[in-house]
Amino acid sequence: MRGEANFLVPDEIKAGLGTNVIGREVYCFRETKSTQTVAHELAQGGAEEGTVVLAEEQTAGKGRMGRDWFSPPGEGIWASVILHPSTAPSQMGRVLLACAVAVAEAIRKETQLPVLIKWPNDLLIRERKAGGILTEMTAEVGLVKFVVVGIGINVNVDRERFPEELRKRATSLKEEMGKEVSRLHLFQEILRTLEEYCLLLKDRQFEKVANRWRELSTTLERQIRVSFQGEIIEGQATDIDSDGALLVRLDSGFIKRLVGGDVTVLEEQ
Ligand code: BTN
Repeated sequence: MRGEANFLVPDEIKAGLGTNVIGREVYCFRETKSTQTVAHELAQGGAEEGTVVLAEEQTAGKGRMGRDWFSPPGEGIWASVILHPSTAPSQMGRVLLACAVAVAEAIRKETQLPVLIKWPNDLLIRERKAGGILTEMTAEVGLVKFVVVGIGINVNVDRERFPEELRKRATSLKEEMGKEVSRLHLFQEILRTLEEYCLLLKDRQFEKVANRWRELSTTLERQIRVSFQGEIIEGQATDIDSDGALLVRLDSGFIKRLVGGDVTVLEEQ
C-alpha cells in the first residue's frame, strides 16, 4: 500500500530495502507516546531482531539523559529498532557508536550534508543538532538480551517550529539543504547502513567502526566539559577506547575514561 498523504507505511519501507535482518518486520504508527516504549514491549513479547517501529508523531518522545525529544508530526524520522547483539553490557558503547556512525553515514549519502558526531551519538551539522540516538538495553546475567535503538532525525522541520529553547542549537536537514528531504529514501538508507554496521560488530570488527567514528567525530582533540552523574570534568578529548568509552586528558595529565555523559565543546572552532 502506498503512503496516504506523506505517511510512511511498512510495505513502502520494505520495498527494495535489500536487508536480511533489519526491517523484516516494520510497524508504523500515526501517533504514539514513544517508539522506544512500543519497541520495548514488542521485544519483551519476543519480537525478532531487526523489528522496526516508526511513528509520524511522538507525544512523549524520549531523549538521552531523561530529556524530552521534540517529535512533530510528519517532519522527522522517529523510529526504534530492536537488536540482539550477543555482547556484554559493558560493551554497549560499541553498539551505540556503531549506530551513530551508521545513521551519520546514511544521512551523508542521501544528502551530502557534512554530518559529524559529538560523542557519543549526537548528529551535528555545522555545530547544530540534527538528530540523536538513544540506546536502551535489557540485560540478564551479564548478557544483553536486547537493545532498542531509538533514532531521531529532524528531517523536514522548519527552524521556527522548534521550541524556543532548542532553536539556537537545533537544525534540520531541510534547513541545511534549503529543500525537503525524502524521509522514505533516507529511512531505507539508514536501515541498510545499520545492518552493515551491525554485521561489522558481529564479525568482531569494532576497530573499523571506531576508525570511521574517529573520522566523523567533532569531539576528539577538542577541549570539552562533560557532566555525568553529578560530576563535571574538563579536559581534552583524546580518543575512544576499544569499548567506545571516551578518553579525556585532564589538566593534571591523568586520562579519565568516560562511559556516558553530556559533552560541551569549550573552545571556538
Ligand atoms: C538524544 O537525546 O539525542 C537521543 C534522541 C532519540 C530520539 C528518538 S526518536 C525515536 C525514539 N523514540 C524516542 O522516544 N526516542 C527515540
